[in-house]
Amino acid sequence: KKRIGILTSGGDCPGLNAAIRGVARASYDLLDCEIIGIKGGYKGLIDADYKVMASHDFSGILTRGGTILGTHRTPFKQMRKIEEDGIDKVANMVKHYNQLKLDCLVTIGGNGTHKNANLLREEGLNVIGLPKTIDNDIYGTEMTFGFHSAVDIATEVIDRIHTTADSHDRVMLIELMGHKAGWLTLFSGIAGGADVVLIPEIPYSEEKVYEALEERRKKGKDFSIIAVAEGAVNKEEAAMSKKDFKRYREEMPFQTVSYRLANQISTNLGFETRVTIPGHQQRGGSPSAYDRVLATKLGAYAARLIAEENYGNTVSIVNNKLRATPLEDMAAKLKLVTRDDDLVKTGEAVGLTYGD
Ligand code: F6P
Repeated sequence: KKRIGILTSGGDCPGLNAAIRGVARASYDLLDCEIIGIKGGYKGLIDADYKVMASHDFSGILTRGGTILGTHRTPFKQMRKIEEDGIDKVANMVKHYNQLKLDCLVTIGGNGTHKNANLLREEGLNVIGLPKTIDNDIYGTEMTFGFHSAVDIATEVIDRIHTTADSHDRVMLIELMGHKAGWLTLFSGIAGGADVVLIPEIPYSEEKVYEALEERRKKGKDFSIIAVAEGAVNKEEAAMSKKDFKRYREEMPFQTVSYRLANQISTNLGFETRVTIPGHQQRGGSPSAYDRVLATKLGAYAARLIAEENYGNTVSIVNNKLRATPLEDMAAKLKLVTRDDDLVKTGEAVGLTYGD
């Protein structure tokens, strides 16, 4: 009987339960197995907090947001640090994996989760990763589940904001999630017909944003929609060292980049401005149909890899096909937007501005 551990780690997102269910159902179908749910991400493996699951635990969860296993952020940097809490986290995880007599561990998460999963692989554990995140920034896969649900939610926010912007002749800024990656803002900005899209990968200049707004005003459009990723930076900030940037942002009188820009726009151009921050709504609630299918596909493929004892990989989508990609490749870097990406060009072709 194979013993399969499953954990979800990092920020939650729609589709985690669909993926858990996909792994479980396909594993029960392919193998004689027992599934052990590790609670609260890697923390559960560090502390031996787990539950032996029964097949009925996976019923009725396909459409539910969040994760039935719970999750926690366990930063990679703290994994090997034992001086802070006196706990050798890596050693504990290896010990508990062995005590639980696991044949493999399925880790469902984003970039941080993949780095930790790779660390456990290096320790000799059998690990399989599944890529989730609303940021869609995991290297080595074209798509992560959670992303499309977040795009749908963010697009609906932009659509709803549009009517007020138009009726009141306002410049409305919508701040979307994404500290490092602008995929969510780019997709929903294009889907929602934003006029300006500001993302971390393309530093902006305020003047270019003003020009775009003035250009619209000249054409008789007195309102505009600006989609801003929370990690968007202007050109001066992009040129700063990491340390200077951190200090600068901490001392910034505005809570977020979109409030700063709203203030600059109203001061310099005289527009009435408003800011909307949908925040964790972008990660909450039921997964979209697309994400339910994607998460199920990735989960079921993980079960196939377990049956083949093909460990040390993440299930990924390459050329729209399911693949097993080495964990160490996936964990190595982030997949960020590039200036010459087709989607960036598409946005430009239909008149949106990136402020660069
Ligand atoms: O990594 C996913 C993400 O949703 C980011 O886009 C966002 O910046 C971050 O998590 C927020 O995380 P939390 O508030 O849960 O710590």
